[in-house]
Amino acid sequence: MTMRIHATPCEMRAILKSRKRVVFVPTMGNLHVGHIALMKQARSHGDTVVASIFVNPLQFGPNEDFNSYPRTFEEDCKKLNDAGVDFLFAPDNHDLYPEAQTYYVDLPGIQNQLEGRFRPSHFRGVATVVLKLFNIVQPQVALFGKKDYQQLMILRNMTRQLALPVEIVGNETVRDDDGLALSSRNAFLTPEERAEAPRLHRVLEQVRDAVLRGETAFSKLERDAAAELDQHGWKTDYIAIRQQSDLQIPEPDTAGLVVLGASRLGIPRLIDNLELRTGN
Ligand code: PAJ
Repeated sequence: MTMRIHATPCEMRAILKSRKRVVFVPTMGNLHVGHIALMKQARSHGDTVVASIFVNPLQFGPNEDFNSYPRTFEEDCKKLNDAGVDFLFAPDNHDLYPEAQTYYVDLPGIQNQLEGRFRPSHFRGVATVVLKLFNIVQPQVALFGKKDYQQLMILRNMTRQLALPVEIVGNETVRDDDGLALSSRNAFLTPEERAEAPRLHRVLEQVRDAVLRGETAFSKLERDAAAELDQHGWKTDYIAIRQQSDLQIPEPDTAGLVVLGASRLGIPRLIDNLELRTGN
């Protein structure tokens, strides 16, 4: 079966209305193996798999890469079709924002921490477009990658608190053999930077292992990890050990932790994280 492509919310909603179990994977395109893993996983959660491609201007800051964000629509369509996606929702800016978007989802303070500290109003733009996409596609299940851990946490908690009838599923991060998390932005690494890039994953593993060994001086672990990256030419924004559930600073007895990192290597800014579970 070939994938069908729709651009307008009206058309997309009408076609999906009669479908029983719709599984949705939103993206901004320029698809790699990590995105395709989400599409394949989606199949196991329902009958109709819907992907979207929309580079959402609301989630880019004025100095970010909205204009240069890679757009590879033809190749993306082929990959989605090969992965067995049934429908692609691919609106243009006017389809999704026919009038200026002045109503937004109001997020809690975590939106200004970690990624949010370096990308003001990014998560407000993400949450608003995802809510809008949910209202158009009306899925029973939606899949997101753990690669963007803060995004997944915010969308999961938004969905729960606003009682949206959607089950949020988090998918494991897909990595290259040397541990580097796949990302559209890896394409901007020089060969030397690409060879250096797996260090981010390695320092996160070191932090994880130290915590699992019983180390409790989290701030020192975070500082040492950032210093190790910076000694190798990185410019680290943060390495942080947080609670999985809300990404707040852990209470002493929190079992589900995650270590997150963001660092610039040359021009590209790379993010990654690893979950860890301590105690029971
Ligand atoms: P985008 O960056 O295109 O990512 C689409 C989905 O793919 C997200 O859920 C992201 O976490 C997941 N993903 C990216 N790289 C991955 C990897 N290496 N392994 C596993 N999953 C990976 O995230 C967005 O788009 C946007 O913010 C969006 C949610 C579509 C809203 O505009």
